[in-house]
Amino acid sequence: MKAVLVCGSPRLNGNTQKLLELAEEVLQENNIDTELILLHGKDIKPCIACNRCRETKDRMCSIKDDDFHTVFNKILEADALVIGSPVYFGSATSQTTCLLHRTGYVSRGNGRLLSGKVGAPIVVARRAGHNFTYAQLVLFLTMNDMTVAGSTYWNIAFGKNPGEVMDDEEGVETIRRCAQNISMLLSKK
Ligand SMILES: Cc1cc2nc3c(=O)[nH]c(=O)nc-3n(C[C@H](O)[C@H](O)[C@H](O)COP(=O)(O)O)c2cc1C
Repeated sequence: MKAVLVCGSPRLNGNTQKLLELAEEVLQENNIDTELILLHGKDIKPCIACNRCRETKDRMCSIKDDDFHTVFNKILEADALVIGSPVYFGSATSQTTCLLHRTGYVSRGNGRLLSGKVGAPIVVARRAGHNFTYAQLVLFLTMNDMTVAGSTYWNIAFGKNPGEVMDDEEGVETIRRCAQNISMLLSKK
């Protein structure tokens, strides 16, 4: 079993990345292979609604940015997708939504390629906006026939400067528990 963890922050070594690394540790302790994918430095353009992916049915997006197809194929090969985003003005980052819109549209247009996978959102903010962003990510996962792993709280944490999120003890514990739940769900597949 393999889990892909996508970090939708443009910031290297930021808070979202730290939480995903923590989730990775727990998943690995449970003998799940992991791969952390950083959207930092990647050029993934927005969906242009050309509908080509629905006409050709070749699992390809018409936009020729290699980064999308590399990440998309890794998601397709994985059994679980953990998607982490910081909150930017109350929403997920552009990097996150560009990836998810194209991933969702190509998947749905080619026979629902995400069906049956386990999913989990992870959201970080300095102060507020977690819930809306969390909902954005859950709406994506549940519309794509995925089973969402919860925790003892929503999978959110607080932090502003890089690394600060690790001081949010409840947030850290929540993410740890979520990773255990992902492992449990994967063990049932
Ligand atoms: C453009 C921008 C918009 C932001 N908007 C919010 C916001 O709406 N609410 C909030 O609490 N924090 C906001 N923040 C702070 C980030 O969510 C916070 O610093 C977070 O830890 C960044 O995660 P990262 O280190 O993974 O990049 C914003 C930061 C940036 C750069």
